[in-house]
Amino acid sequence: MDYTITTSNLTKTFGSFTAVDNINLNIQSGDICAFLGPNGAGKTTAIRMLCGILEPSSGTGSVLGYDLLKNAEFIKQKLGYMSQKFSLYLDLSVRENLDFYAGIYRIPGKIRRRRIEEMLRLAGLQGRERDLVANLSQGFKQRLALSCAIISDPQVIFLDEPTSGVSPAARRSFFNIIQEEAGKGKTIIVSTHFMDEAERCGQIAFFNEGKLLALDNPDNLKRNAIQGNIYKIVVENPVHELDKITGLPGVIDASLHGRSLHVLLGPQGDVELLKNSTSSVPELIEPTLEDVFLALARRRGRKSHEPNFIGH
Ligand SMILES: Nc1ncnc2c1ncn2[C@@H]1O[C@H](COP(=O)(O)OP(=O)(O)O)[C@@H](O)[C@H]1O
Ligand SMILES: [Mg+2]
Repeated sequence: MDYTITTSNLTKTFGSFTAVDNINLNIQSGDICAFLGPNGAGKTTAIRMLCGILEPSSGTGSVLGYDLLKNAEFIKQKLGYMSQKFSLYLDLSVRENLDFYAGIYRIPGKIRRRRIEEMLRLAGLQGRERDLVANLSQGFKQRLALSCAIISDPQVIFLDEPTSGVSPAARRSFFNIIQEEAGKGKTIIVSTHFMDEAERCGQIAFFNEGKLLALDNPDNLKRNAIQGNIYKIVVENPVHELDKITGLPGVIDASLHGRSLHVLLGPQGDVELLKNSTSSVPELIEPTLEDVFLALARRRGRKSHEPNFIGH
């Protein structure tokens, strides 16, 4: 199969520290792949290598058929990249910002005017092109930043935590735009902390401590990563109950999710025992992506020789 993005044991070390550790990615055209993981997991470093900005320490990879090591300069021109610190010019207008980035990508005059109009529409900023960027809401700023990053109409788009600091409504509308772009066949990598955003992506790459724990679609991840059942228990004093439940036979893990507990009961576990040990009734639930992440990270911690992927 032809993948738009593929890597083999891609690794980045900084001195003796390994920031990205032998990752193997295969991402198809038209996919949205979420890079999901805690701070410091290696998401940004992986993205920067895939964009041709950072030289890999070892391993190989290609984007759009171009080799990450040999054709980095070429790859850079072919991509749209919205970095974590993507900066707009606050003292310039909306249109001036778009025009500036169109200039960087050397988009010729006639196409440039059309693309700027398209990007104004995409950002929802038609009629506001003369507004100073400083006066835009955070949500509009992010959408304008995306518009600037993809004004050259790239086939592959990297978005590094594009929605941090924006409202939930603005996050949703940002994701609608991303999904529209993917619908046109664009391949999109988007890093995020937000499980609800990852849930809307066709693929999820779970990162932890530089390693890729899994790469699969959300449904497969939920089906395959969890061995046992997840029970939700809403209790008055979750911290106190957590201690009690963690020690029960058959309980593989228990964790706090807001005001409730999620208990992973292994295949041999006894739900009656669980019922008798808490003040409220355990409810069998579909695993959330958080449950999946915890299960994968736990398994990785226990047996470091396990393969990188599940379902592959
Ligand atoms: N230039 C660098 N020099 C040294 N360490 C770095 C450098 N860039 C990133 N790191 C380290 O690599 C790890 C992964 O960072 P990063 O890729 O930014 O993670 P994430 O984007 O998932 O938060 C972190 O521990 C970070 O401190
Ligand atoms: Mg980052």
